[in-house]
Amino acid sequence: MPESNTPAVRLADVRLDRGTRTVLRDIALEVPRGSVTAVLGPSGSGKSTLLAALTGELVPAAGTVEVLGQRVPQRKRELLELRKGIGVLLQGNGLLTDLTAAENVALPLRMHTRLPEPVIRRLVEMKLHAVGLRAAADLFPRELSGGMARRVALARALALDPPLMVYDEPLTGLDPIASGVIMSLISRLNDTLGLTSIIVTHHVHETLPVADRAIVIANARIVFSGTPAELQSSTDPLVRQFLDGEPDGPIAFDAAPQERAA
Ligand SMILES: Nc1ncnc2c1ncn2[C@@H]1O[C@H](COP(=O)(O)OP(=O)(O)OP(=O)(O)O)[C@@H](O)[C@H]1O
Ligand SMILES: [Mg+2]
Repeated sequence: MPESNTPAVRLADVRLDRGTRTVLRDIALEVPRGSVTAVLGPSGSGKSTLLAALTGELVPAAGTVEVLGQRVPQRKRELLELRKGIGVLLQGNGLLTDLTAAENVALPLRMHTRLPEPVIRRLVEMKLHAVGLRAAADLFPRELSGGMARRVALARALALDPPLMVYDEPLTGLDPIASGVIMSLISRLNDTLGLTSIIVTHHVHETLPVADRAIVIANARIVFSGTPAELQSSTDPLVRQFLDGEPDGPIAFDAAPQERAA
């Protein structure tokens, strides 16, 4: 097994391309084990692309990406093995609509283990309990509120006890109360289960209070890396423009014309 004193995630000199376009360049990042890291940045800046490099969906055009003490492999079998160690909560929940909450949570266990049915049922119960939803086991996704569905997706991401959790916009579409529930759950699970968490989000004010570190991505680079307090007091114009939501400034919003056309 990989040594546990290595960082949970380490990127060095990484460049990530999509087609012929470079989305991120010169990326250096270390995520210490046990920490919660917020990845912030405007829409289209490459936050989801960064996560894709961690899960091996996107092979870096240059540099090295290490996850849980090993270089992200390209061979399919080794990659699947590594991915068992990464719990992913996708932008959108990705729940299967014709399965109950419990069956959705059971999916990764059925796919990746040969555990007997009673053990799977017990594990599912425990995961649903961890997100406060044991009573919702037999409900279908359409019978769940947005916040409950997000928690079921969270329970499913936790099913295989992954040491690393990555969340892509976990608060999208949730009201402030449900957002608070999800954020405190993410934080509590991180601490009680001894996980490492990476939270991609544009919900700065909800996320920074639970984060140990924050990075800001803009103009294809990491433009800030530090503690939430350092972020709040940053005078960097790029960081300020993002934090204060200013439309004009050093961040080029190249996605804006597309949004107008839509
Ligand atoms: N599969 C893909 N193929 C080609 N281009 C892509 C693909 N995924 C993302 N891109 C491009 O990469 C850039 C970064 O996209 P990405 O999804 O990483 O942004 P993001 O920061 O996650 O944005 P958002 O906050 O809106 O989710 C965008 O210009 C996007 O068009
Ligand atoms: Mg995204």
